[in-house]
Amino acid sequence: MQLGAGNSQQAIKFPQTILKSKNYYLFYDPYSQEEMEKQPSRNEAYSLLCEYNKQESLIRHGLAVESVMRYFAEKSGEDVEKWGVIGLCHDLDYEQFPDQHCTMTRKILEEQHWPEDYIRAIVSHGWGICSDTEPVQYLEKVLFAIDELTGLITACVYVRPSKSILDLTTKSVMKKWNTRSFAAGANRDVIAKGAGMLGMKVEELVEETILAMQKGAELNITFK
Ligand SMILES: [Fe+2]
Ligand SMILES: [Fe+2]
Repeated sequence: MQLGAGNSQQAIKFPQTILKSKNYYLFYDPYSQEEMEKQPSRNEAYSLLCEYNKQESLIRHGLAVESVMRYFAEKSGEDVEKWGVIGLCHDLDYEQFPDQHCTMTRKILEEQHWPEDYIRAIVSHGWGICSDTEPVQYLEKVLFAIDELTGLITACVYVRPSKSILDLTTKSVMKKWNTRSFAAGANRDVIAKGAGMLGMKVEELVEETILAMQKGAELNITFK
């Protein structure tokens, strides 16, 4: 909230503005943390993702995770936009700084003045792998649980004759789940741990995540 007739240049000249309004004073500090941090829009988040990532697979992965986060947010009455941008940018640094995964994302997003709870959520998806930040909030647990799973489901889509998620079944994914050499990069232990955090069976999480990705596909966010 900006009180008074200040543009940003005026705010720099007068870092603390006290406005007299009838019978009381309003105090406004233009450098407050609250004012510096601003909720990133979906457009800003997508532009940032494309600025740091040129590989189509990474952008598609961000979009897949975004669609699943939006699904879970909607289902639980949470902030769909917030969950979506966190999903979209969770691997922001991966193409350029794979050895500093999560650490560089924190740095980039701090420079962009993203709110701390957004950054914390993103960093927590690497818990036990490249981050010490444990997923605590429901949003963080969902992100942790579905990140690797979207990779497994995407791999399942690519080997289907239809190349479509719309006819993918939970049964088919669970078959691949047990074939550990298939999409070996999709860490089943992390997915199982995430499902446990959410109090869900792996099969239930797979089913919900497929539904979420199908919804994303229908909205033309991820797959055809
Ligand atoms: Fe990651
Ligand atoms: Fe990821």
